Amino acid sequence: MRILIIGASGLIGSNCLRYFKQQGHEVLGTYFSYPAKHTVFLDTLNPQNPENADLDAFSPEVILNCGALTHVDYCEQHPEESEQKTVQSHRTVLEWASKYQAKVVYISTDYVFDGQNGPYTETDTVNPVSVYGKHKLQAEELTLRHNAHNLILRVTNVYGDEERGKNFVARIIQQAKDKQKLTLTLPVDQYATPVNGWDVARALHLLLTDDKSGIYNIASTDFLNRVELALKVLNYFPEAEYELIPKFTGELGQAAERPLMGGLITAKFSAEYPRFLFSSVDDYLNRIYD
Ligand SMILES: NC(=O)c1ccc[n+]([C@@H]2O[C@H](COP(=O)([O-])OP(=O)(O)OC[C@H]3O[C@@H](n4cnc5c(N)ncnc54)[C@H](OP(=O)(O)O)[C@@H]3O)[C@@H](O)[C@H]2O)c1
Repeated sequence: MRILIIGASGLIGSNCLRYFKQQGHEVLGTYFSYPAKHTVFLDTLNPQNPENADLDAFSPEVILNCGALTHVDYCEQHPEESEQKTVQSHRTVLEWASKYQAKVVYISTDYVFDGQNGPYTETDTVNPVSVYGKHKLQAEELTLRHNAHNLILRVTNVYGDEERGKNFVARIIQQAKDKQKLTLTLPVDQYATPVNGWDVARALHLLLTDDKSGIYNIASTDFLNRVELALKVLNYFPEAEYELIPKFTGELGQAAERPLMGGLITAKFSAEYPRFLFSSVDDYLNRIYD
């Protein structure tokens, strides 16, 4: 397959880039502001930008869009920019898909739910409570309206290897390794299902190989709040010096409302791929630090 990965300088995109190449596919990975290894420039906000990668030459069969404005509180305070960078930019991607007759994969989130009674299945009623969640849902709807054959992966709390090491788990690991004192003020009431970006890539590869469409949840068996997740990581660093301050979300003054009881159930994916094993946060830490 010829796969264009938009946002291959980021966490999910970079894992997909590595895995899909390993599987023998022709892959073009793009960056926007951070020129990560093996990526080329592409701006979905400005398809006419002369610096953009030559998509005609690549002519993708699949376009995986990992680009979005992902800072949830920033989106809440800048709704127009959020709309531009998440919805409008995805419209450009869908136009490219029409041009190249490519299948689109869109990466979405459990923030399309209100967090009253998660974890959620694919068919549960959506009700986003933040600007970010509303715009992700709009992009989902555009994706399936454009072509019912397109694919949406919902994920949450993704962690794992990435060049910038900016995800929550990677940052704690790095600071602990650097023997920096950590001060962590974290919500004790925001629950989700963390998943390794490598597993997202492996699962997506199966779905693409079988030409699946529609919505799939991709999550591991971990169901943790942020405090539990941080402690799980810190347990691997007995020498780490840290102060952990658990708070309720209401005390944190975050601009955007969060889906507190979030997370995703992967029963649909697991029924179709019963031999696929998701790794846990412990598996990830054991692999790195055993
Ligand atoms: N990580 C999670 O826990 C999580 C959970 C739920 C859903 N998601 C969704 O999954 C997707 C990928 O997330 P991630 O964690 O991998 O995010 P990330 O690490 O922040 O990566 C985002 C990628 O999008 C690129 N990008 C941003 N604006 C762009 C533009 N205008 N044109 C082209 N590319 C652009 C970024 O490029 P530069 O960095 O080079 O600027 C980066 O490669 C996002 O849509 C996010 O909403 C992520």
